[in-house]
Amino acid sequence: MCGIYGFIGGGKVEELVNGLKKLEYRGYDSAGIAFAKNGKLFVEKHTGKVDQLRNFLDSDLSLRINAGIAHTRWASHGIPNDLNAHPQMDCQHKIAVVHNGIIENYIQLRDELEIEGHIFVSQTDTEVIAHLVEKYFNGDLLEAVRKAILDLEGTYAIGVLHADVEDEIVFARRKSPLVVATDGKRSYCASDVTPLISSSRDVVFLEDGQLAKLTAEKFEIFESSGKAVEKKIHHVEWSEKAAEKGGYKHFMLKEIHEEPRVISDALAGRISKNEVIFRELEGWSSNLNVNKINVIACGTSYHAGLIFKYFFETLRPFNIEVEVSSEYRYRNVFIDDRTLTIVISQSGETADTLESVRLVKSLGGKVLAISNVVGSTLTREADKTLYINAGPEISVASTKAYVGQLTVLYLLALYIDKTFGGDHPDIVESLRKLPEIMDNFMISSTETIKEVAEKYVGYTNFMYIGRGMNYPSALEGALKLKEISYTNAVGYQAGELKHGPIALLDEKFPVMAVAVDDKLHNKMMSNILETKARNAHVVAILTEGDTEALKSINDAIYVPKLPSHLYPFLVGTVFQLFAYYVADARDLNIDMPRNLAKSVTIE
Ligand code: G6P
Repeated sequence: MCGIYGFIGGGKVEELVNGLKKLEYRGYDSAGIAFAKNGKLFVEKHTGKVDQLRNFLDSDLSLRINAGIAHTRWASHGIPNDLNAHPQMDCQHKIAVVHNGIIENYIQLRDELEIEGHIFVSQTDTEVIAHLVEKYFNGDLLEAVRKAILDLEGTYAIGVLHADVEDEIVFARRKSPLVVATDGKRSYCASDVTPLISSSRDVVFLEDGQLAKLTAEKFEIFESSGKAVEKKIHHVEWSEKAAEKGGYKHFMLKEIHEEPRVISDALAGRISKNEVIFRELEGWSSNLNVNKINVIACGTSYHAGLIFKYFFETLRPFNIEVEVSSEYRYRNVFIDDRTLTIVISQSGETADTLESVRLVKSLGGKVLAISNVVGSTLTREADKTLYINAGPEISVASTKAYVGQLTVLYLLALYIDKTFGGDHPDIVESLRKLPEIMDNFMISSTETIKEVAEKYVGYTNFMYIGRGMNYPSALEGALKLKEISYTNAVGYQAGELKHGPIALLDEKFPVMAVAVDDKLHNKMMSNILETKARNAHVVAILTEGDTEALKSINDAIYVPKLPSHLYPFLVGTVFQLFAYYVADARDLNIDMPRNLAKSVTIE
């Protein structure tokens, strides 16, 4: 996820930086701007936050320009460095492009463009867009961008400026947001309304496949066919602070609602004809021909690792061990050349996780990292990395990154299984459909989850139970509630209750049970009855249509009928929303819970 801002109609360079600053929550590993003067393109871009860019610009901040585009980056392709920062340029340094999203076919496009003589300088997917616009430019910028986007596969919001076209800047979108506005003297475009509302509250949200041509006094919107479309003006009432959160009260809630998009981005470019492909692992397959997999992680990432194990075992029996990093690093572990170590860390900076990586490497083991932060320490020390491409997660409690981790881990399980001859087109297809399912589910069920959460807000202890793949979901649900609502919550294998924890239960100790229609459903229902017999109130996650279970529980949250392996995704979201609404009803500091840190860099 990145932030894009641009204006045309006259202003100072500093206004580009100020606009960008309001989008910094969308990405902050590098920042850059571009503007043109007298047919010459000026670009300034650096690693670091927007304030560092401001320092670099220094006296240029007061320069008057007609138009400019700006970008704050969260790397997906290419580590954060000055070359990979946006804007990216064409061979002649006439065209500047800023981009948010993932171009899935960029390797193929780059190869083709290189054969045609284009010279590439960065590792980004974005650079192909600048060269495509260069290739198609014939005096008409809108037309060149229109042709360029027809070649692109994947997701994008792009802004394009050409040094020879002073009176126009062009933007285009597919699946990544862009908003356009004008005050009649200047026109603006940005990734969200935050930097626009000080100029105009009447905005147009570009739709997929649309382009916007901005001139000083107005903007026009076109389909990718070139046909002009009528503008749908929205009047925005949000404050700037609310706009940053997409109108949601907290980043956590916004990030939960980003989950369908996160799944799409994690899948992007990794499925071809119902088969998983990981370009990142090309030439590395021999390291996947293993007979043992160790998974190491902390916190929420550890729970994602546990689900990976259960999922992998549905594909084939396999020797998989999942361990928290703070334990693993002190163990006398066995590793040989047929052991693969998968290390999961959203931040890529968790101290115990990094020490575990060093232990594995000192024993000659191979490390495959799953991370959200390009260029983080973990990704530099691991042999290979698969990125989840979730964009920055601001809320301390991890939500969308967890869903991104699960998506990549499922793909990885299928990919490893393929090296042993496995073929599961049905599962790949089910993953492809998941973003839409998740989206519909959130639209239809968020209110119910909120109502149930508000009913249980007065309780101080919760027992989360599940079996099989949904046992780790119970652990993660309990963790979420602890983290943000400071409520005692324990996660247990439902079958373990009778070995101790059931002694805790009474009418003041509710049970959150995952009882979806998988192969362990009947066993779960028996466990639920055991808890009911101790007068516990039971909130159950059930599969739509299961009315029988209602007799044994107090409150139901229904999820749609799915293949069993997909339930952990929706169950995870239900528990995240439940924890969120409990904490919100108590008016707690949800995005920054007490005593917790987003990135735990101490042991
Ligand atoms: C902290 C965060 C958690 C996270 C854990 C592991 O405790 O608050 O949300 O799950 O660290 O972080 P990592 O970045 O390694 O996934």
